[in-house]
Amino acid sequence: MSNDEMKKAVAEKAVNEYVKDGMTVGLGTGSTAYYAIKRLGERVKEEGLKIECTATSVRSEELAKEFGLVVLDVDDVDHIDVTIDGADEVDPNMQLIKGLGGALIREKIVAAASEREVIIVDETKLVDVLGTKCPLPVEVLKFGHKKTKFALELQGCEAKLRTVDQQPFVTDNGNYIYDCKFDSIQNPFFLESRINVIPGTVDNGLFLNTATTVLVSHKDGTITKMGE
Ligand code: A5P
Repeated sequence: MSNDEMKKAVAEKAVNEYVKDGMTVGLGTGSTAYYAIKRLGERVKEEGLKIECTATSVRSEELAKEFGLVVLDVDDVDHIDVTIDGADEVDPNMQLIKGLGGALIREKIVAAASEREVIIVDETKLVDVLGTKCPLPVEVLKFGHKKTKFALELQGCEAKLRTVDQQPFVTDNGNYIYDCKFDSIQNPFFLESRINVIPGTVDNGLFLNTATTVLVSHKDGTITKMGE
């Protein structure tokens, strides 16, 4: 299976198995979440499912509307039954790095408000230790961002300002992102507590004890499950 086929397969399985009529669904962001949003749109059309959605990015909200889904502001829903989202790294304890798609803050807020967080990945996202493949994205205020970068690097990483077309990438919240490359993140809980007290830091891409389920798509066509 190609990477895209793996993403599609795992996204469709998550939507088919975890979304039921009447639910409020959190929509993730990224190329795997794309297939989940698309499949949700198909189920609404084909089965007449009555669901409401809330999105983790402007991009996902627009996509969902194109696929015919009803999208509400996160503050206008009382309860989120399930959120289906991708991830950049998953360790054996279901701890995650997210945010290479730039939506980490909204993803974290929606995940924290969700009864169930289903993470959909292909096997290339599995790591023994977080930080060994990907940088850790950290969203920071524009004001004083070079000072924030300096403080981030004191935690033992190389912090690179994310850019698009040679301009700083700006998140949906109007902030910058530093991609922080560590050799490895041996103690993610400690690192998270260190990063989040740096003035100027809004939040970071460590999603710890957030996933309730991780579905992993493999090249041989199988899908395995971690969690409930
Ligand atoms: C978006 O900010 C991210 O957290 C994505 O969920 C993550 O980057 C996975 O994206 P892909 O499914 O595109 O790999």
